[in-house]
Amino acid sequence: MIQLTGVEKNYYLGQSRIEALKGINISINKGDFISIVGPSGSGKSTLLNIVGCLDKPDKGEVVIDNENIANLSANRLADIRANKIGFIFQSFNLIPVLNIYENIELPLNNINKYAVKKEKEARIMELINHVELDSVIKHKPDELSGGQRQRVAIARALVTNPQIVLADEPTANLDSVTGKLIIELMRRINKEYKTTFIFSTHDANIMSYADKVLELHDGQIKN
Ligand SMILES: Nc1ncnc2c1ncn2[C@@H]1O[C@H](COP(=O)(O)OP(=O)(O)O)[C@@H](O)[C@H]1O
Ligand SMILES: [Mg+2]
Repeated sequence: MIQLTGVEKNYYLGQSRIEALKGINISINKGDFISIVGPSGSGKSTLLNIVGCLDKPDKGEVVIDNENIANLSANRLADIRANKIGFIFQSFNLIPVLNIYENIELPLNNINKYAVKKEKEARIMELINHVELDSVIKHKPDELSGGQRQRVAIARALVTNPQIVLADEPTANLDSVTGKLIIELMRRINKEYKTTFIFSTHDANIMSYADKVLELHDGQIKN
């Protein structure tokens, strides 16, 4: 479902070139629960951003559902992001002025799915119920604990029913007990809906939940 072949990505800082990814080859199937590990600066976020169509490779192919994203227009990339991919971040990235319900609703404004108001409300409530946030639906993010905020982010990532969820160090800002609850919630969703998950982490306990661990070192996958 996702294939990366010879993916390279460079950043330029003044005169110097940073080779963030140096020829990545990976293949990910539907329903996989995959962990990307590696030291800080090894290229984890760069790789997730490329798989998530937030960025394009300088070289190589990224094929998602038989479509090579390197050739696509910005509009088409935005369309793929909105419909096929959900994102979860280390720092939750919730909108502080919106309440929990509105934060989860947000990605639905970019797509036509659940155009009928009742269906849309039902979908949002189903997810709020799934992540057990019914009691805080009208609250703002800063009234919630870290674990609750990340559960909002998970519900927001899933609301469009994406095939792929990308999570960049989703437990890094949480204590170990809460982190475990979050990864277990992601795993349950992965099993229940066959959603493909790719998450990066530093934490050996968190990576132990993965079907497959990809180890990045200096922009290359270590075998
Ligand atoms: N926007 C950017 N501009 C310049 N260099 C960057 C940028 N983003 C990442 N890098 C560099 O690319 C390399 C990989 O970074 P990153 O993908 O963020 O690694 P990780 O997520 O594993 O910490 C690092 O050397 C980092 O400094
Ligand atoms: Mg990173």
